[in-house]
Amino acid sequence: MAGRLTGKVALVTGAGDPRSIGWGIAVALADEGADVIVNDINPAGLDTRVADLQAKGVRGLGIQGNIADVNAVEAMVAQGVAAFGRLDVLAANAGVIRWEHFLDITPQNARLVLDVNLKGTITCCRAAARQMIAQGEGGRIIITSSVQASMHFPVTPVYGATKHAMFPFVGTLALELAPHNITVNHIGPGWVRSALNDKAPDQQTAEGIEGNRQAVPLKRDGLPEEMGRAVAYYAGPDGAYVTGTYLRVDGGLGIGKYSI
Ligand SMILES: NC(=O)c1ccc[n+]([C@@H]2O[C@H](COP(=O)([O-])OP(=O)(O)OC[C@H]3O[C@@H](n4cnc5c(N)ncnc54)[C@H](O)[C@@H]3O)[C@@H](O)[C@H]2O)c1
Repeated sequence: MAGRLTGKVALVTGAGDPRSIGWGIAVALADEGADVIVNDINPAGLDTRVADLQAKGVRGLGIQGNIADVNAVEAMVAQGVAAFGRLDVLAANAGVIRWEHFLDITPQNARLVLDVNLKGTITCCRAAARQMIAQGEGGRIIITSSVQASMHFPVTPVYGATKHAMFPFVGTLALELAPHNITVNHIGPGWVRSALNDKAPDQQTAEGIEGNRQAVPLKRDGLPEEMGRAVAYYAGPDGAYVTGTYLRVDGGLGIGKYSI
């Protein structure tokens, strides 16, 4: 049965880990019929993810690559287009976090977070947008920022800065790419218990995890597939007239304390 994204090709970065938000996005897009290219810097899970996609009846392709490497990103888009013929949807999702108080920040960690979250996201958007413009049929770009785009958390000052930066970036892209019928939006996950949070200082004990749960108005963590369905909305026909926006998918976490 044809889905709302049948015939579309999507690229999702940071989607190799089965617990990741990227994989939740890939599943949601595949469930709507999209063929999906899954990228990750870690090649370990890619073959299995591709088999999982094929089992859903769509085409899947795994591409190992570091989104912070400009050449790798260009090669990734070229390889994806060579295999599937086009690119309609970019989910620029890959990101990293390091927990450090401002006064303890190491230059290496700061550089990593800036390189992946900021430079990598920008590079992926540019490579995808160029391909979409060349195709001449529009496109959809959805960035995974964070609830930290609009909230302040201690111990993640650089991470928070890279996520907040998505507001002017997405707004500017939405303006510049609108003449090409390319929409640009970002989603703000709240708390998802992916591998990213395994080392979070406040999640090392059952009490800490329960404390996080109680901080969410809906009293639970979010699921990667729930982030994916928000991306599928932006990627599908219902999102055609929506650009330059931010959608928190956070159980209400962002309306709590520390909001801006
Ligand atoms: N988990 C959360 O609670 C949460 C909340 C808000 C925002 N986010 C954001 O969601 C996105 C996905 O996070 P997640 O929770 O799935 O993290 P994760 O660590 O579980 O998964 C991220 C994936 O990206 C890959 N990756 C890391 N650096 C890469 C690079 N340079 N190039 C390509 N792949 C790379 C990792 O190998 C991993 O498989 C990130 O941008 C993160 O900041 C997560």
